[in-house]
Amino acid sequence: GPAGLGAELVTIVNKLQDVFSAVGTSAASIDLPQICVVGSQSSGKSSVLENIVGRDFLPRGSGIVTRRPLILQLIHKPATAQQNGAALQSSKDGDAAANPHEWGEFSHIPGQKFYDFNKIREEIIRDTEAKTGRNAGISPQPINLRIFSPNVLTLTLVDLPGLTRNPVGDQPKDIERQIKDMIMKYISKPACIVLAVSPANVDLANSDGLKMAREVDPEGNRTIGVLTKIDLMDTGTDVVDILAGRVIPLRMGYVPVVNRGQRDIDSSKSISLALEAERDFFENHPSYKGKAQYCGTPFLTRKLNMILMHHIRATLPDIKARISSQLQKFNAELVQLGGFAADQNSGNIVLSVITEFTNEFRTVIDGNTNDLSINE
Ligand code: GDP
Ligand code: NA
Ligand code: MG
Repeated sequence: GPAGLGAELVTIVNKLQDVFSAVGTSAASIDLPQICVVGSQSSGKSSVLENIVGRDFLPRGSGIVTRRPLILQLIHKPATAQQNGAALQSSKDGDAAANPHEWGEFSHIPGQKFYDFNKIREEIIRDTEAKTGRNAGISPQPINLRIFSPNVLTLTLVDLPGLTRNPVGDQPKDIERQIKDMIMKYISKPACIVLAVSPANVDLANSDGLKMAREVDPEGNRTIGVLTKIDLMDTGTDVVDILAGRVIPLRMGYVPVVNRGQRDIDSSKSISLALEAERDFFENHPSYKGKAQYCGTPFLTRKLNMILMHHIRATLPDIKARISSQLQKFNAELVQLGGFAADQNSGNIVLSVITEFTNEFRTVIDGNTNDLSINE
């Protein structure tokens, strides 16, 4: 997609997966963490998630729009040769335009492929209403959506209802507790990366997203602060103090973003145009222009990439050990059966390929870590 998680990461994970399938067993695979968005209602969670995916398909708007968890599984699926031309075109068009190699499937409608991403959004709204009513009701029953595409990394993202205090419509009296329980169920998993979304036009000390993130990740090892609605701040105010860690410091820091506003949504402004506008905003704003490269959705996406890279690198030694012990076991069995031990080299090749990747990661990661840890 036009933003999307990096092609570099997609390539690396796919190369590794190729190596694993060459080993020919279930010896190893990379489990990537889930990415969950948390924050108060209308803070911009769905907007952030949509920008990360680089496609337009989530219901967004004022009020409680996300009323059930959406478990979004992105599945990397290489395009066939004849699809490649179309892929090139679609990556230019971006957004909701249908193309033959990117589609969605809902677990509640098995077998039906949605090529039109607007139809995906309609189905999310339809099924939300079918299970919760039209009147602001909520439900912990998730919607499961899989998106197949050559441009995505195989990864799970979770869009969650936002925290709300006062019940409206059909909402139960204990709505706050119910939504909080729902969110906690997802973000308490150690393999979850928490995007704590806070609107910049509200006092950070009151951020529901940060409060919830801190409950499950007090050390801040897997929380990224995302500041939305920078464009709606009063003239003369900015988030520079927050970015510098002088308000509520976060180990992984904060990324300020400008998503599409309600008017942009109503006029169907495309993601690519929105990203251009976001870049212009930061590059021309007196408070941010000196550090525009650390602002906006592309930087957030790079930061996520980097976290995923670190995660992969951290899992590699264990994967190597597993492959190594499988090979030993396999050879021992062969000898026992009276055969010859398998060619040592074939096993060693696999391991050395992985070692090579480990080094490749290190270069990539070390080359990027410096600018990613800087917040000022
Ligand atoms: P959610 O309820 O947290 O999922 O929030 P949504 O993504 O649905 O956004 C809520 C409303 O805020 C929508 O009308 C969005 O257009 C608007 N919005 C979100 N982010 C921004 C932003 O950065 N700037 C502006 N101007 N509006 C935003
Ligand atoms: Na909303
Ligand atoms: Mg939402």
